Amino acid sequence: MLIGMVSAKGSPGVTTSALAVASRWPRRVLVLEADPFGGDVRAGLGGGEWPSSAGLADAVVDLRSTGMDEALRRRVHRPASHAPPVLAGLGCVGQAPSVAWTQLATALGRMTGADTVADCGRFAVLDGVTPLLRVCDVVVLVVGSGLRAVRAASRVAPLLHDELGAEPGDVRVTLLVVGPDEPYSSPEIAAGCGLSLLGELPRDRRTADVWSDGTPPARGFDRSPLQRGAGRIATKLVRAGTAGSGAA
Ligand SMILES: Nc1ncnc2c1ncn2[C@@H]1O[C@H](COP(=O)(O)OP(=O)(O)OP(=O)(O)O)[C@@H](O)[C@H]1O
Ligand SMILES: [Mg+2]
Repeated sequence: MLIGMVSAKGSPGVTTSALAVASRWPRRVLVLEADPFGGDVRAGLGGGEWPSSAGLADAVVDLRSTGMDEALRRRVHRPASHAPPVLAGLGCVGQAPSVAWTQLATALGRMTGADTVADCGRFAVLDGVTPLLRVCDVVVLVVGSGLRAVRAASRVAPLLHDELGAEPGDVRVTLLVVGPDEPYSSPEIAAGCGLSLLGELPRDRRTADVWSDGTPPARGFDRSPLQRGAGRIATKLVRAGTAGSGAA
């Protein structure tokens, strides 16, 4: 199963949300960092201590001569016991169009032993990552609840539909609200964007810093509001992805 997560202008939080949700995934999972503006996890979650040979760029080279399982075995890194395994993203802006996203995503989607949560960064039609989104079982638009964020998301939602060939109401494209009620509620945002509502993640600075900046988890991390919310979202996504792909 392949899940793509994107954001719109004005809505930070897609990397944090993807990592938090993957950390609570009920099955084996891999985080693919596919942000066309370059990866965050080496410097963020990894605190700058990521093995230089672990990452997407080397995996793409490996795939010319070996299979997906072997490429992932060599290039995926799990930076800490509380973190999911990650295929770290590209180093430079502008490299994304050179990646064969469709083949990569299709191969990941076919893996039977593990699911993939892809952090696709900010959505832009011409960024080169759209082919990956097209083969996702579910695409999640991550949005804040302020006016700027909601406006930007409501403009992106129809573009996302167009690019994915989705009809209005297609549950393959769904909304995740980070920090609801500041001031708009999640149902209001979903209605404004014309998308189904997957759910919400609370604002939780302390836990978010673990994912975005590599801060060591504090006591009670597993029971923190963000981690509990991420667990609920992971469960819903597995259900939605299974229904969407027709898998058992
Ligand atoms: N649920 C949350 N509660 C509190 N802070 C959050 C939450 N999610 C993200 N943040 C914070 O917002 C900031 C941006 O988060 P993150 O790096 O995940 O955003 P992004 O959309 O991936 O950004 P970029 O466009 O740079 O890739 C970070 O400081 C992070 O800790
Ligand atoms: Mg990011």
